[in-house]
Amino acid sequence: RYILLVHGPNLNRLGVRKPEVYGQRTLADVVELVRSTALPLGFDVMDRQSNHEGDLIDFLQQFGPGAHGIIINPGAFGHYSYALRDCLEDIDRPTVEVHISNVHRREPFRHQLVLSDVVTGQIVGLGLEGYRLATLALCQPKP
Ligand code: DQA
Repeated sequence: RYILLVHGPNLNRLGVRKPEVYGQRTLADVVELVRSTALPLGFDVMDRQSNHEGDLIDFLQQFGPGAHGIIINPGAFGHYSYALRDCLEDIDRPTVEVHISNVHRREPFRHQLVLSDVVTGQIVGLGLEGYRLATLALCQPKP
């Protein structure tokens, strides 16, 4: 049993890019946090970061259908990628979209989130804690 942890463009630069917005922690720290949260609940984590829309879609098409759930921070793709949106709709797995920053209190172009109607839920603005909560939401047994 596994969940997917998917990151879009520029998130390989976590810890270096705009630390005042995205914090000091790296992508490796995020992967470690999700893994250490999921493992005791009985789930492996398959992670992928890409700066390329098609790579993310290939990965989701290949491993999404077998996944228990998906955590995705699509980066800027979340604001305009209808291809990613259609892919998630097609795969139809429980999915939590995470944005580290609160996109709604930033530039207007970040206010639109085109994955909204195909994901289960969204967590924005809680920093890395958002990933921990997303993992619990997907992996904890439902009451
Ligand atoms: C982000 C927010 C996006 O607007 C931005 O393009 C990112 C990071 C976040 O995690 O806050 O790359 O997804």
